[in-house]
Amino acid sequence: MSKREDSNVQVHENDLQQQRLIMDRVREVSETRQEKPQAYVDTYGCQQNEADSEKLRGMLVEMGYDITYDENEADVAIVNTCAIRENAENRVLGNIGALTHTKKANPNQLVVFCGCLAAVPESVEKIEQSYKHVGLIFPPSKIWKFPELLLRALIEKKRIFESDSDEGMIAEGLPTHRDGTVKAWLTIMNGCNNFCSYCIVPYVRGRERSRSVDAILEEACSLVALGYKDITLLGQNVNSFAGGENDFANLLRQINEIEGDFLIRFMTSHPKDASRELFKAMSECEKVAHHIHLPFQAGNDRILKLMNRGYTQEEYLEKIAIAREFIPDIVITSDVIVGYPGETEEEFNDTLELVEKAQFEAMFTFLYSKRPGTAAAKLHDDVSREEKQVRFQKLVDLQNEISERKHEEYIGEVVRVLVDGEAKDAEYPLKARTNGGRLVHLTGEPSLVGNFVEAKISHCNNWSLFGDS
Ligand code: SAH
Ligand code: SF4
Ligand code: F3S
Repeated sequence: MSKREDSNVQVHENDLQQQRLIMDRVREVSETRQEKPQAYVDTYGCQQNEADSEKLRGMLVEMGYDITYDENEADVAIVNTCAIRENAENRVLGNIGALTHTKKANPNQLVVFCGCLAAVPESVEKIEQSYKHVGLIFPPSKIWKFPELLLRALIEKKRIFESDSDEGMIAEGLPTHRDGTVKAWLTIMNGCNNFCSYCIVPYVRGRERSRSVDAILEEACSLVALGYKDITLLGQNVNSFAGGENDFANLLRQINEIEGDFLIRFMTSHPKDASRELFKAMSECEKVAHHIHLPFQAGNDRILKLMNRGYTQEEYLEKIAIAREFIPDIVITSDVIVGYPGETEEEFNDTLELVEKAQFEAMFTFLYSKRPGTAAAKLHDDVSREEKQVRFQKLVDLQNEISERKHEEYIGEVVRVLVDGEAKDAEYPLKARTNGGRLVHLTGEPSLVGNFVEAKISHCNNWSLFGDS
């Protein structure tokens, strides 16, 4: 990335230094307390939000807080929200509502509302009017300012509303408190420029901003040194990454050069930028997992155009044919939306056709949800909810059949998996992932967590595999 671009997208070092000084100040106050203050962070939405929550926890730990998973104990209770669909929004609001009880029991509790919904004016207004127990609101673009906002909320004893006044910038060097010891998220870019007509993300996350290759490589190296075995590069469209002369394929090649036994994953990729060069790099980099999550959203060309996706069904299928040509065992997963305004039965049948042709390992099916401010929100919709539900079920049934068939191909095979955690299941106490990212319920000792092992697959369902270590 050139110097000029750098200074445009990076939060200035002086501003970050100020936040560090505030963190020191808050920690000094925390340390004078008899009991350590407790912070609770509840996360909704995608991995990007998970990664942001790890930064919030990192800053809280830096400020002398202990992390609790019980909101009743919390001095600071944070809800990091998602705005992608209405039901996500309703769930968040339900849980924010429930915090009135914890706040009543502990009037000093600070309830914080952040994440993507905090960048939607209608939602902020709702919180302002009807959720008076919320004491601090800030959008995703202001995460780096959290220490200052927290301090103000604590000492000013009034509600603080930070608005989305800029495009969202890259802040390097924020402390991170990671949840796991095996898998780590590594954000490589923020925001989205695509404005798919149904989607709220570009409005709440701002324009695409890529981190510098150097900063990414430094973080990747430190994750490997810390023993992480599975590193997932994150961005709304990771493959649109633009770090100066380096495109995403190039970045993969450079991370692949880091010494160590680890896997590189990435999500999400946009079909329009899924280039031959990307699949070539994937095939040549031995640490890059053989998996791509490549949402197609719809199978009909008119709907794809209305959605502003930038490809046709044929072009999408061509991309995945190229992927399979370079990487014959690649696992391809996808997202699809059912019930885009005005989508006819015939047009929906094109989605079924694409799914039949593509043969995804797994697919996330979503019912279209109208989002305020998006282009599609203005469209007339004459398809009933019942009809959409019928189509939704048809699609889920078709994909389940395909997933199960694909999973059956693993039975009897011995595959290398990474054991990434324990499960509360007496028979299969371990969780693992194949190189292609399929979930394996595994027999074996807890000491295997964090290791690559050979697993013999015994049976499956449409979502996961079962095996013996
Ligand atoms: N940036 C990624 C994914 C973003 S959101 C991409 O472009 O692929 C994750 C998924 O939510 C999308 O792939 C889409 O299938 C779904 N989604 C987004 N907006 C939606 C809406 N308004 N209604 C229903 N599903 C939606
Ligand atoms: Fe939303 Fe489209 Fe951007 Fe994905 S690419 S985040 S679906 S606008
Ligand atoms: Fe939701 Fe924001 Fe992610 S809207 S899906 S949390 S980018």
